[in-house]
Amino acid sequence: MVNKANAEIGVIGGSGFYSFLEDVTELQVDTPYGPPSDSVFLGEVAGRRVAFLPRHGRGHHLPPHRINYRANLWALRSVGVRQVLGPCAVGGLRPEYGPGTLLVPDQLVDRTKSRVGTYFDGLPLPDGTVPNVVHVSLADPYCPAGRAAALKAARGRDWEAVDGGTLVVIEGPRFSTRAESLWHQAQGWSVVGMTGHPEASLARELELCYTSLTLVTDLDAGAETGEGVSHDEVLRVFAANVDRLRGVLFDAVAALPSTEERDCLCVNALGGMDPGLALP
Ligand code: ADE
Repeated sequence: MVNKANAEIGVIGGSGFYSFLEDVTELQVDTPYGPPSDSVFLGEVAGRRVAFLPRHGRGHHLPPHRINYRANLWALRSVGVRQVLGPCAVGGLRPEYGPGTLLVPDQLVDRTKSRVGTYFDGLPLPDGTVPNVVHVSLADPYCPAGRAAALKAARGRDWEAVDGGTLVVIEGPRFSTRAESLWHQAQGWSVVGMTGHPEASLARELELCYTSLTLVTDLDAGAETGEGVSHDEVLRVFAANVDRLRGVLFDAVAALPSTEERDCLCVNALGGMDPGLALP
């Protein structure tokens, strides 16, 4: 019997991506970190149980720095999710990564300033539990199996996704200045977004597989000569590509290993350490 309140794969929808599944069960999930961005929507894709969570909330009321990333990932794990696909809108840092490019990054640079990026901050939870001090490795921030599934899915839909590259995450909500953007470009980084951190590192702390699928909606200020990026442009380009992206996500979900088959670095990220938290 399928448990309607359970899922194995999570999808966190980005800007302009507020629904994913049909025939969903809506679940309000509370967490020790407060409420997630929205309800969790449970449904099925290719026989796999999937939980969808709109990162900014339905209607996009949460800016990137106000998202409760800890609650979002905890909520997904608490309904059974062990593998997460995280699509997001980004700016391209190279002229060849123009609007409509899909890039599956293999590296991440954190340039955020104000976000709680760990479950292991030594502070007690509301129930008095104090987490242990834990330092996970984030040398390779993304799940290799998830990346392979995403790339295969894109290829299968004739979308030649860029395999690898560095996502730099800025605090936002403003876009980069031209000088910042030129500096990001000079570092050799590929795309810039506002939500990829701390999503990837929190997922690792929960031993979740996490894969980022970045959709380029604009050329960032350092890679273009116009007036810079606007939020309208981001939403317009995302909307124009959202059906294609949904298709890729469906196929990626189908191609992911089962929870039991996972044998990537993410599965044992805590290395048997006692996190001092009752992981859901
Ligand atoms: N999201 C979409 N485009 C972006 C850009 N140029 N900079 C940061 N985040 C973005």
